Amino acid sequence: MRLEGKIAVITGAARGIGRACAERLLAEGAKVVIADVDSARLHETASAIGAPEEVLAVTTDVSKKDQVEALIAAAVERFSRLDIMVNNAGIAMMQDFLEVTEADYDKVLSVNLKGAFFGVQAAGRQMIAQGQGGVIINMSSINSGLANPRVATYAISKGGMNQVTSTAAVAFAPHGIRVVGVGPGTIMTEMVEGSFIDSEEARRTVLSRTPLGRCGTAEEIAAVVAFLASKDASYITGETIYPDGGRRVLNYTVPVKE
Ligand code: NAI
Repeated sequence: MRLEGKIAVITGAARGIGRACAERLLAEGAKVVIADVDSARLHETASAIGAPEEVLAVTTDVSKKDQVEALIAAAVERFSRLDIMVNNAGIAMMQDFLEVTEADYDKVLSVNLKGAFFGVQAAGRQMIAQGQGGVIINMSSINSGLANPRVATYAISKGGMNQVTSTAAVAFAPHGIRVVGVGPGTIMTEMVEGSFIDSEEARRTVLSRTPLGRCGTAEEIAAVVAFLASKDASYITGETIYPDGGRRVLNYTVPVKE
């Protein structure tokens, strides 16, 4: 119960990694405000993961600054404060580099990068006003530092997000607010099934680059988020941590077990 009494906002929490984070933070004693653009699924998730006293669902499109600000305001209105912000909502488009249109570029960058920036800004503003510190966690990706041209817009957005993390960490350090990133490898969620791993060949390619020999689970990412949100990580700020089965440090491929 490392997060007893803390109030957390988690975006993109209707499913996948965001939902797992909400469940883990609840299990560690926090109350959670979950946000997602998919309103129906968001409300289903809210009823499934906890009681109304500890879970609030707020339909939010993170690519709209005013909606992100309204999300923070709703959290504060319901639970009186904000201690933890998890900017997790994200989308990916798989396409050839030369096929990326202006609309595609704007779509991915506005959800993943602009959404995170204004999520950090709105949460930081609230935490500074409270005067008791806080933790902001940005869901980056292994792709923030790898060159995969099939997901160029995604990779660019996550690379930028790491700079949101580091610049905000320095800006907010005087207020005792830590800003950290989590950069997962391949985690089996609906996003991955619908994009990164769309064939057996794609699965084998991912595993050939994953020393631990398997994809990760959303719960394994949520465990890292809970650690970073807790006092156990009190001296970590500005960094992005990579729970990726060893993928980022590998500079050759490994045989895939059948
Ligand atoms: P997912 O697609 O299962 O869940 C993403 C959630 O974000 C969905 O519920 C979706 O409705 C929501 N969302 C999309 N656009 C939104 C918007 N404009 N406003 C609010 N919510 C919105 O994806 P998954 O796998 O759970 O990913 C979560 C985060 O983790 C993303 O930022 C993703 O880039 C990141 N990530 C995922 C990895 C993976 O292997 N699954 C690896 C590295 C990073």
